[in-house]
Amino acid sequence: MSFFINILYFFIITVLVVVSICFAWRFLSQKFHLPCPSWLGWMVEMDNPFTKTSRASVIIGHLELKPGMKVLDVGCGPGRLTIPIAKKIGPQGIITALDVQQEMLQRVQQKAQAESLKNIQLFQANIEDGKIENNLYDRALLISVLGEIPNMAVAMKKVFDSLKPGGMLLVTEVVFDPHFQSQKTVLRLAKSAGFRVMKIVGNRFAFTMQLNKPID
Ligand SMILES: C[S@@+](CC[C@H](N)C(=O)[O-])C[C@H]1O[C@@H](n2cnc3c(N)ncnc32)[C@H](O)[C@@H]1O
Repeated sequence: MSFFINILYFFIITVLVVVSICFAWRFLSQKFHLPCPSWLGWMVEMDNPFTKTSRASVIIGHLELKPGMKVLDVGCGPGRLTIPIAKKIGPQGIITALDVQQEMLQRVQQKAQAESLKNIQLFQANIEDGKIENNLYDRALLISVLGEIPNMAVAMKKVFDSLKPGGMLLVTEVVFDPHFQSQKTVLRLAKSAGFRVMKIVGNRFAFTMQLNKPID
């Protein structure tokens, strides 16, 4: 009997430790805008089994991609979306994989080489620094990235400027991400940057917002 009680105690303590680490990580990440560490890249590369919203194939479906398009993947991480997008837009298109962490970009490069993809441009930069060209891109992505950026309003404006008039930005947020941003926050940022909201798919815990840069 005491054996089972010990097992139960062990189980409860393990659950409490894991939950506490998750809460501490969430708190610290949000307070100090810590980017997702590159050694966790393997986890970012997996599609979340608990929500369809952040699956690569679902996100790419919202992008309405055409061959030859120019795409900006902000906070590309290990290239979970970069690689399939590069295939969709074909050799005439180009995707800029932008990330602050060199280790993430190295992973993208390895995958691109393995798939012989030549239309991926790697760019190590902080999106806030505004080193991207204006009016260049047809599509941009901010997938589980916004909350990691210290000045989200500046970042949103830089992405707005980088898009061609009529271009589209997709923002995806999922509550399991320690840097999760609510729909209300994303809407406020998007509207003040000048975006028009085309559609919101999902719910308040996991959503994708399709935003458009007006033509006029
Ligand atoms: C959670 S990962 C998401 C990766 C990818 N978007 C995906 O959904 O698979 C967030 C990425 O954003 C990058 N990041 C954080 N802050 C950034 C910034 N200010 N500028 C550019 N990239 C940033 C991090 O280095 C990290 O690779």
